[in-house]
Amino acid sequence: MCGIVAGVSQQNVVPILLEGLRRLEYRGYDSCGVAVVSHTEQLSQLPGLQRARSTARVAELESQVHAALEGRCGIAHTRWATHGAPKEHNAHPHFSDFPSQKTAYSHVKIGLVHNGIIENFETLKAKLVAMGYTFVSQTDTEVVAHLIHSHYQGDLSQALKASLKELKGAYALAVICDAEPKRLVGARVGSPLVLGCDSSQAKREGAGAGFFLASDAMALAGVTESFVFLEEGDCVDLSVQGYRIENASGQEVNRELRELTSYSQGAQLGPYQHYMQKEIFEQPQAIADTLEGVVSIGPELFEMAGKSSAKEVFARVERILILACGTSYYSGSTAKYWLESIAKIPTQVEIASEYRYRESVQEPGTLVVSITQSGETADTLAAVRHAVSLGLKDTLTICNVASSAMVRESSLAYITRAGVEVGVASTKAFTTQLAGLFLLTLVLAKQRGHLSVIEEREHLEAMRHLPLALQSVLALEPQVISWAQAFTPKEHALFLGRGLHYPIALEGALKLKEISYIHAEAYPAGELKHGPLALVTNAMPVVTVAPNDALLEKLKSNMQEVQARGGVLYCLADADTHIESQEGLHVIRMPEHYGALSPILHVVPLQLLAYHTALARGSDVDKPRNLAKSVTVE
Ligand code: M6R
Repeated sequence: MCGIVAGVSQQNVVPILLEGLRRLEYRGYDSCGVAVVSHTEQLSQLPGLQRARSTARVAELESQVHAALEGRCGIAHTRWATHGAPKEHNAHPHFSDFPSQKTAYSHVKIGLVHNGIIENFETLKAKLVAMGYTFVSQTDTEVVAHLIHSHYQGDLSQALKASLKELKGAYALAVICDAEPKRLVGARVGSPLVLGCDSSQAKREGAGAGFFLASDAMALAGVTESFVFLEEGDCVDLSVQGYRIENASGQEVNRELRELTSYSQGAQLGPYQHYMQKEIFEQPQAIADTLEGVVSIGPELFEMAGKSSAKEVFARVERILILACGTSYYSGSTAKYWLESIAKIPTQVEIASEYRYRESVQEPGTLVVSITQSGETADTLAAVRHAVSLGLKDTLTICNVASSAMVRESSLAYITRAGVEVGVASTKAFTTQLAGLFLLTLVLAKQRGHLSVIEEREHLEAMRHLPLALQSVLALEPQVISWAQAFTPKEHALFLGRGLHYPIALEGALKLKEISYIHAEAYPAGELKHGPLALVTNAMPVVTVAPNDALLEKLKSNMQEVQARGGVLYCLADADTHIESQEGLHVIRMPEHYGALSPILHVVPLQLLAYHTALARGSDVDKPRNLAKSVTVE
C-alpha cells in the first residue's frame, strides 16, 4: 500500500528517501516518485521543486534520479492506485502553483505526498477549479496540493492547518514548498505517520542532523532508531533545528520519543530466492521465539505496562468477538475451535470490513480480540474502534508490530515474534498468530477451570516441540514440489478440510490464488455434495487436509465422492490414517499427528505448494499483482 518517506537534513536527502522507498516496496505499489527543494548555495539562484516519477520499480526511479536530483529537503512516495490508474501523471509527489494569477504567493510551488483517501475531494475540486486551478491527475491527492496552495500566505504550516479544516477522510501528508526550502510539514488522521530524529548523529559528527517523516518506521531503518509515533490529528513542523508537534486542538504537545532497534536490522534475503520462501523456512525459529520465556500459562502474557490488568479483564470475559481480515481472519477462525472446545468460551469471528458496517447486538462481557500482522490494517482498526464505540471496552490484539496503531489502541496485547514479514503472502505471521491464540485459549481455559495441571503441562510440551515438528514438515518440500508441477498448468483448484482444518483449507486456497493467480476455493468437506461437487473433473485438483482426528472417517467418505467423479486428490495425511497413494490419489504423509496444534503443521505444505506453483508460473511471488502488504485504506 502507499508509503511515505520525507526528510529535512544538513545533507542531501535523496539517497535516504530512495532507500526508504526500497524498504517500503514490500508493502506493494504500482508507481513511485520523489521531489526535493533543489539545493543552492548561490543567493542569486532561487531554489525550485524538482521531481522524478516512475510506474516501474524504485530501482528504475533511482536510475532516473541518479545525480540529477539533489536537495536537503524532500518527499517521496510509493503509490497503490485508488483514484486514477497507475500512470506517471497520477504518481506522487503532486505539485501546485498558480503563476498566471498575479498575487504575492501565486508563483510559490507546493509539493505533497499523501497516504489515505480524501472523501470530499470532488466538492473541493469543484471549488478549486472555480478558483482557476488546473488539475493534471485523476487523484484525490492533487486536491490537497491545490488547497494548501490556495491557503498559502508565506507560512507552510499555517497553510496546511487551514487546509486540514476542509478535508474529510483519512490521510498522512508530507508537504514541502520552494519558498521555504528548509521546512517540511506533515499531518495525520486515520493513516500512520512516524517522525524519525537523527539529532544524536549530528551531535557525534557535528553535521548531518536530520528529521524525517515516514508511514512506517521500517522506511528509516539505518537512518535513525529514535521515533515519535504521531497521534490522530497531529500536525508536525520540521527543520534541521528540530520539530514542533501540535495536536488536533492546535496545542503544542510533547510526544514520547521511542528507541526502536529492531528495524535497523532490516530484512535480508540471505540464501533464499524470495522473502516468502525465507519466511516459510523461518517458521520453526519464529515459533520458538514466540514461545521463548513462556514458562507458565498466565494472564500476564497479554499485558502491556501501564495498561489494563489482564487478570481483571479475563475474569469478566464471558464471550469473545474476533475481528480480522484475510489470513488473520483464518487464524481467528481456527482459534474459535480451540476457544470453544478447550476454554468453553463462546466465540464469534467476523471479517472486520463487514462488522464495522453492520448492525450488531452487543453482549456484555465480550472481549474484542483483533488479529493483525501489521497492526495498521484500516478495516481492522475501524472495526475495533466501532466495537469500542458500542460499549465493548475490553480489547486485546494479537499483533506482530509492537509499535503499531492497533497495539497502542488496545488494552491488552500479545506480540508475536515472527520478525519482519516482507512477502505480501503472510506465512510466519499466520503460524505465530496461531501460537499466540493457542496460548490465549490455555490462559482462558485455566482461568475458567477447564485446564488441569496435567493438561497444561502436556499442551506446553506440545507447543515447545513445535519448532522440531515444523522442521520435519519443511523436509517434505521435494514431495510438495512434485505436487506443484501438477498444479502449474491448472486454472482452478479446490481445498477441503473439516473442523479445525477447514480454516487451514481456506488459508491454503488464499495462498494459492494470491500468488499463483489460480482460482482456488475452499469448502468444509461435508458441503461438497451441496454444490461444489458439480465442479469436480480431472481438470480440477482437489487438496484435502486429512489429519487423524475424529472427523477422518467422514472426510474419507467425502474423498470417495471426489474419486467417484474422476477428481484427482492431493491429500495431506497423518502417518496412521491408512490413506495410501493410488491412481487419482496423491498422498503426502505428515511426520506426526499433532492433535489440537495440528493446523500449525498442516498449513506449511500448503504454503510451499502455493510458493512452488507461483514460482513455476513465473509470477512475482513477493509482490503479487494488485495486492499490498499493509492495507491501510478501506
Ligand atoms: O496486517 P493484517 O494481518 O491485518 O493483514 C490482513 C490481510 O490483509 C492479510 O492477512 C492478507 O490477507 C495477506 N496478504 C494474506 O497472505
